[in-house]
Amino acid sequence: MIISLCDDPQDVADLAAQRVAGLLHDSPRAVLGLPTGRTPIVLYDLLAQQHAAGQLDFSQVESFNLDEFVGIGQDHPGSYRSYMQRYLFDRVNLTNGQGHVLDGLAPDADAECARFEQLIDAAGGIDLMILGLGANGHIGFNEPADSLKARTHRVTLLESSRAANAGFFGGDPAQVPAEAMTMGMGTILKARRILLLVTGAEKAPTVAAMIRGAVTTQLPASFLQLHDEVEVICDADAASQI
Ligand code: GLP
Repeated sequence: MIISLCDDPQDVADLAAQRVAGLLHDSPRAVLGLPTGRTPIVLYDLLAQQHAAGQLDFSQVESFNLDEFVGIGQDHPGSYRSYMQRYLFDRVNLTNGQGHVLDGLAPDADAECARFEQLIDAAGGIDLMILGLGANGHIGFNEPADSLKARTHRVTLLESSRAANAGFFGGDPAQVPAEAMTMGMGTILKARRILLLVTGAEKAPTVAAMIRGAVTTQLPASFLQLHDEVEVICDADAASQI
């Protein structure tokens, strides 16, 4: 695990954008895994700016989002599909067909999860998986628990995760769906490279435990210790307890 220390969230985004640009220059047909949340918004801004400046081409890229809420559709402003359209897909040359997000309104969530796994395999697997970190140690929506499911699956969200996502639902945790679908840690660990972006002092204890502590289902991010090509890019606040 490589830890890259940055001064602040802008520097985290700058370094992450360099990693994405480097990959796309070497491999224009790269397959990306993409996160949502507040952390990657600055990164998506940078990627959109570089695309507008003619420096980044997404025309052959395929992407897979980590997770999506169950029960809301792509037109709902709180859905991760609408987030991706807003912050990235509508601003670069990556069409709906290339940017895959789980369908929160699929009639059979289990079948939707299986379909997503097949799509990732058909794309040749994920070259670069970009991740955010939940303050409770979740990755995607793999919540701390006694056991974890390896592949893409349906999950009941912890109240802490609903509260963390309230900002995308008018500030009211009760408006955040109770369930979601998420790639499993096994799906995430199959990616060839992983980039974890972390900012903010509230995540400092989780970052320290993830790097120094035991691999445990009670801290899903600790499973990243098992992968050979992980880079954690964090700002000074997030790194303050390492
Ligand atoms: C959300 C998402 C995760 C995201 C994480 C961190 O609940 N499901 O994929 O990485 O929590 O979010 P933030 O960057 O807003 O702290």
